[in-house]
Amino acid sequence: MCGIIGYVGPGRASQVITDGLKRLEYRGYDSVGIAVRTGKGILDVRKDKGMVEEVSSALRFTTIDGNLGLGHTRWATHGAVCRENAHPHADCSGKIILAHNGVIENYKKIRDDLAAKGHKFASDTDSEVISHLFEENAKTQPLLKAFMRTIGQLEGSYAIVALSASDNEDRLLLARKNSPLVIGVGKGEMLCASDIPAMLKYTKTFVPLQEGDIAVVTRMGYKVYLHDGSEAIRKQITVDWNLDLAQKGGYPHFMLKEIMDQTHFVNESLATDVSEAKRLIEKYDRIDIIAAGTSYHAALMFAYLLQRTGKGAQAFVASDYPFIAKPDEKTLVIGISQSGETADVLQAFRYAKKSRKIALVNTMGSTITTLSDCVVYLNAGPEVGVAATKTFTSTLAVIFKIIYGKQSLAGVSRLIEAMLAQENEIRKLAQLLALKENAFFLGRGLNFPMAYEASHKFKEITYIHSEAYPGGELKHGALSLVCEGFPVIVLAPKDDSLQKLFGNIKEVKARGGVIYSVTDDKEVMAESAFHLDIPEGTDPILYPIALIVPLHLLAYHTSVLRGINPDRPRNLAKTVTVE
Ligand code: F6R
Repeated sequence: MCGIIGYVGPGRASQVITDGLKRLEYRGYDSVGIAVRTGKGILDVRKDKGMVEEVSSALRFTTIDGNLGLGHTRWATHGAVCRENAHPHADCSGKIILAHNGVIENYKKIRDDLAAKGHKFASDTDSEVISHLFEENAKTQPLLKAFMRTIGQLEGSYAIVALSASDNEDRLLLARKNSPLVIGVGKGEMLCASDIPAMLKYTKTFVPLQEGDIAVVTRMGYKVYLHDGSEAIRKQITVDWNLDLAQKGGYPHFMLKEIMDQTHFVNESLATDVSEAKRLIEKYDRIDIIAAGTSYHAALMFAYLLQRTGKGAQAFVASDYPFIAKPDEKTLVIGISQSGETADVLQAFRYAKKSRKIALVNTMGSTITTLSDCVVYLNAGPEVGVAATKTFTSTLAVIFKIIYGKQSLAGVSRLIEAMLAQENEIRKLAQLLALKENAFFLGRGLNFPMAYEASHKFKEITYIHSEAYPGGELKHGALSLVCEGFPVIVLAPKDDSLQKLFGNIKEVKARGGVIYSVTDDKEVMAESAFHLDIPEGTDPILYPIALIVPLHLLAYHTSVLRGINPDRPRNLAKTVTVE
């Protein structure tokens, strides 16, 4: 959930790190810290709770001189949000310093053992035990060996960047398990970070570390080792993303930029190669689709569409998969994950040991790609806003390509454009909703996963309580909440479920509820207090996209009207690497 960045080179480390931390803030944003080696044996460590911008300028991060350093932005898991618990964490001597992302499961035992040996801890975090354990090991072994031994003693998940102020060389020591860490290969300088966008300003060449890798990064290059100390070769990848993609490009928020970017990226997504995935899907009768959050709503859509072709397909919430399913050799498991790092999804993938696996993923070199037999990239470009928008639309586009073939999707970019062109209307609807305390989203059949997603996004960034129901379910319970003025947003395209949904609209209105709709049906429009319009003649297979694009934008504008920063909803992080 946290973001890590490290730098070694001729440049000013504090500048590169501060810049990278700003780009990593979306991963976690309750505390921030930096450590730079300012001379042999000397570290300058500055950290505090708060956002990157405020902490880095209050503590004047960029005034630190030095060419080797690391930084961290935290999303608390162990220990309260306070200065002491912010990273980086030092050992007793103050010479070893490190930043950690993940959870050390055996930290209590390590901490007790080290405390018995006289180590004094300054924080409540699990992460701090790593620097003390490293210090202990370094008493009897050379630095790299001591680091490797330390890593071997950890249980849990980690991306770690460490350095020692007393090292004879300028180098960063890295380790990765179940948490992303990528090396950035520059010219005469090297970086490492939790993700690629944080380093795009300095290089386009990257080496994603694999599970269990340990690496040493110096100004001139890097070496990767396996846990037994033997050297490993890792592939370099080059991305053609430009820095603009990791910046707001004139938009007030990443979320808005990413929503607007969809007209372009959906075409990139449609260009992705799905042939191997299609071949595998054809071969299997039982298909389990696992995902979390927004990606789970795409999984539901995928499962519904496969069920309609007669397949035994089912969508599972990833965190519950091991408690419910018994995947075997006859099961094809499909994981959907924008980040490719969601712990719940990775754990479900590992659980499905005997099954072939396909990943639908946006992030190149992410952990899920190393666990899959077939990888389908979403090609949506980097997504920085915490709320997934363009990656959701891209996932739908890729799913539709698998099911219907690319030819049938020719009009998708134009459709997105037409829906986004209603932004003024969407803003008006947001004004009506911004003062409400509750909302329902209704859809039937294939529109239900979209209602689910619309409601999820709405509550996530507006803090207005909302729920989604298949229209037919309303009368079985939730209708009792509908009273005078209660807002109900209906996803009502002219498909085979509309007639029944119309009955639900009447039920709501009879109890004083107010109907807002996304529709291409004149009668629904007439029943609605406000409607957003799907263009006439829209191909029904594209209805889900016509529905979700304006509803994401509705969540965005409602959030802004309520004075919330939609890029950073409270309590949430972009990449959820804890279970
Ligand atoms: C919501 C949101 C989250 C993610 C979820 C899974 O807007 O972004 O619900 O969808 O955490 O993330 P990925 O797709 O990276 O596995």
